[in-house]
Amino acid sequence: MTTIERNSSNPYLANNLAPVHEEVTVTDLRVTGTIPTELTGRYLRNGPNPAGTVDEKSYHWFLGHGMVHGVRVDDGRAAWYRNRWVRTKDVCDVLGGTPPPSDWPDGHASFSANTSVIGHAGRTYAIVEGGSAPVELSYELDTVRVSNFGGTLPHAFSAHPKRDPKTGELHVMAYYWAWGNQVQYLVVGTDGRVRKHVDIPLPGGPMLHDMAITEKYALVFDLPCVFNLDSAMKGVRFPYFWDHNYEARIGLLPRDGAASDMKWVSIDPCYFFHPMNAYDDGDEVVLDAVRHPRVFDRDRRGPNEGDPVLTRWRLNARTGRSTEHVIDGHPQEFPRVNESLIGHRYRFGYSSGIGTGFAQDTLIKTDVDNGSVQRRTDQPRYGYGEPVFVARDGAKSEDDGWVMTLRHDTQNDTSDLAIFDAQAITDDPVAVVHLPVRVPNGFHGNWIPDNR
Ligand SMILES: [Fe+2]
Repeated sequence: MTTIERNSSNPYLANNLAPVHEEVTVTDLRVTGTIPTELTGRYLRNGPNPAGTVDEKSYHWFLGHGMVHGVRVDDGRAAWYRNRWVRTKDVCDVLGGTPPPSDWPDGHASFSANTSVIGHAGRTYAIVEGGSAPVELSYELDTVRVSNFGGTLPHAFSAHPKRDPKTGELHVMAYYWAWGNQVQYLVVGTDGRVRKHVDIPLPGGPMLHDMAITEKYALVFDLPCVFNLDSAMKGVRFPYFWDHNYEARIGLLPRDGAASDMKWVSIDPCYFFHPMNAYDDGDEVVLDAVRHPRVFDRDRRGPNEGDPVLTRWRLNARTGRSTEHVIDGHPQEFPRVNESLIGHRYRFGYSSGIGTGFAQDTLIKTDVDNGSVQRRTDQPRYGYGEPVFVARDGAKSEDDGWVMTLRHDTQNDTSDLAIFDAQAITDDPVAVVHLPVRVPNGFHGNWIPDNR
């Protein structure tokens, strides 16, 4: 066990994936440019940041303790930056302090709630997949409780709920190894309570990182990275493996239907963590996602077995057949869209270019209608994380708004929150909030306006 250094032999602990060791609070941050005054709220982002010491040989990127970073923006001012560990019991065991109270009568805990952070029904939650409960945070990112959504969450949640832009409800696919061969579809109402759940039987236990919705369907990504009980019993901490014999297919669950109403569409073997978006088109569902050729086959530490590229599938619900083609062959991840178009026909996506060692290097905007791509590259100085699109009030077009993203400044070893005009991402940012500390590359974040 060693204190982690920037030159760790584990690539998921090295360079800007190395964790930071302190929680800080900084107020009245320096800003270059002009923050749009209509932005009032918080940009929050979660990611693994192991506390204390770690075994570099066995450390798995997906299992590091969660740390949430946040920037509060108000009336053109960057009021504060905070970073806080999500103080689950594991983190309290390392750092001290009292573990948060749990709303679960059976003591169901949360392990590393390290993957995303959302605002819903006036509360803030750090969230992760795989059976762990959501962890509620305060506005200032202190840990409040392990939540069960007022007693309505059956067990597991996910890091990738999809908010229906028409209803404001969250649609979720959850999984948990102890359920055996099934996953669970959840709908969380605007009151923050689960109003529906559907158990969906599957041939195996896939790692179900994300989901998509259309106006008709909730999509199940039943892909060949599956749970292996023997490995789990032997103590393998991340017992999900590529299975060459497992059929890759997408399930189309009618949003008001039962598991018996599922339609299945086969696709060629691959894995995707993240869809960019999906929508209905007659008998077909169009699904755009970042396709990995395979994951967790020979490389156990991270997705590193072929370029992740933006791909479109057309899934025919009537015939069960599919076609696929590459929209953009540049390696990328963390795709986002204007979220008022989740589940609907759309044109623009935003993503982070992926370099060696899963470095997040480039800011990408893709026109999925014609395949044209804009790339912003500021290498070697800046690397760009997940881009979050925020629409302008009264937006006149799909890309009328801003792209917010954290970027690591390798020259100063600090980080910035950069805000770009989404219609001109290759121009200088409209505003840069300068953070006096480094923010490690992480997973997912969101702009959470104060009225959410
Ligand atoms: Fe994710």
